[in-house]
Amino acid sequence: MRSFALLLCTLFTAPLWAQSAIAPTARLDAATVPQPEGWADDLALTIPEDLNPDPNILEINLEAVIRDMEIMPGKLTPVWTYNGVLPGPLIKVKVGDRVIVHFKNSLPEDTSIHWHGLRISNDMDGVPGFTMDPVRPQEEFTYDFVVPDAGTFWYHPHVDNSAAQMGWGLYGPLIVEDPNEPQGLGDELILVFSDMSLNPDGQFEPADSGGSAGNLFGREGTVLLVNGKVQPTLKVRQGKPQRWRIINATRSRYYTLRYKRAPLVKLGGDGGLAARPETVDEIKLVPSERLDLVFTPPDAPGTLSPFRWYATNRGYGSTYYRVPEDILLIQTVDAPPVQAAPVPAVLRQIEPIDLSHATEREINLTIAFDRNKKVVMGINGIPNERAVPVMVKVGDTEIWTIRNDTDFSHPFHMHGYFFQVLDDERIPQWKDSVDVPFKSSLRIAVHFDGRPGMWMYHCHILDHAEAGMMGHIHVMPAD
Ligand code: C2O
Ligand code: CU
Repeated sequence: MRSFALLLCTLFTAPLWAQSAIAPTARLDAATVPQPEGWADDLALTIPEDLNPDPNILEINLEAVIRDMEIMPGKLTPVWTYNGVLPGPLIKVKVGDRVIVHFKNSLPEDTSIHWHGLRISNDMDGVPGFTMDPVRPQEEFTYDFVVPDAGTFWYHPHVDNSAAQMGWGLYGPLIVEDPNEPQGLGDELILVFSDMSLNPDGQFEPADSGGSAGNLFGREGTVLLVNGKVQPTLKVRQGKPQRWRIINATRSRYYTLRYKRAPLVKLGGDGGLAARPETVDEIKLVPSERLDLVFTPPDAPGTLSPFRWYATNRGYGSTYYRVPEDILLIQTVDAPPVQAAPVPAVLRQIEPIDLSHATEREINLTIAFDRNKKVVMGINGIPNERAVPVMVKVGDTEIWTIRNDTDFSHPFHMHGYFFQVLDDERIPQWKDSVDVPFKSSLRIAVHFDGRPGMWMYHCHILDHAEAGMMGHIHVMPAD
């Protein structure tokens, strides 16, 4: 009896967090406490000024311009930026909004902006030679489109030299929110993953370093960045969920993500939420792909621990001598842990694409060498510059078997349309970018629902795309 009284007394006098350590079920409800003060300050993105008073129109100026930035301590790097910031400004709108971008090219060479993943009209897709002229130095171009889908998207150049231009810093996030999505999945944090090839003086390595072998492997940068910074710090509170929207804006780098085996809850990615959440120990994120996940900090108050990049086996030699690298420092603040409600079991209704009249097509991702031992990549053995378009009509549905017999994995991307991966193991979701691992194949279904024009598809290891692994689809109007 005496010990019971003592215990009661301890319970009522000990601070709340000590009690929760004894009885985890008594933790504070996560919904009642905010994120730590200044939690994402180190990862802040720039919000561009909206020039249009209409709440359903975002109208901004975007200038591509070189700016000296301190990426490595004490060194200045001439970064290719949008509006002088890295990554480019955050474009955040809601489904159905109109986006007007007055773009100015203040770079020494041609460029363009491609709105990766957005199902917008073909003349706004930003592909010189197919949908527009390149934006020449000192020239301007106005992009004007309506965003039809919620999701995590991004923008980057789409010219012959885009692998180099992206490596120098040209990319930015674009988020489309849907007010009708389930709320309360966690406080949102947008994370743009990228890398840069810098020498010890902070200058860029030559964009074609490694020659043909560089093209073959795909060039990975030497410095890993999150929202333009080396190892920024994120403040978290144990048990308080954060919703991370991650964009892989590297030219070639695959990411394997995990956090001390604390599970991550995957919500979706490219084209918004998936049908259901998925709890995973580890996630792969390939170039151009996006990830939407709930991160629930597992560490005890007062812990500082790194979130790491782990090498992915994306083919021959890609994991040799590769050690994990810290990309983000996670500081669990000294505050009582909290407990969150689980993520809802259903996130969204996604109908499978109707395959009853689908046409089958086979797409082989190929690598060969020409007489001079130069690497030539292609689709079905044909490099981009000699390719004839795939011909389809608005209203058509196709099933593509994408075959990769090469020694390297390829992140396949299609412009202008979402697809579904036909694989019973996968949770239904809308994709525009998907990994096709080496020596494997996968099937996707795509419905060409509108937007006639010429649309690209290619490997998003941009060194591979430039070596020829790119084709185009001529979507003709329905008759
Ligand atoms: Cu991210 Cu052809 O695009
Ligand atoms: Cu590739």
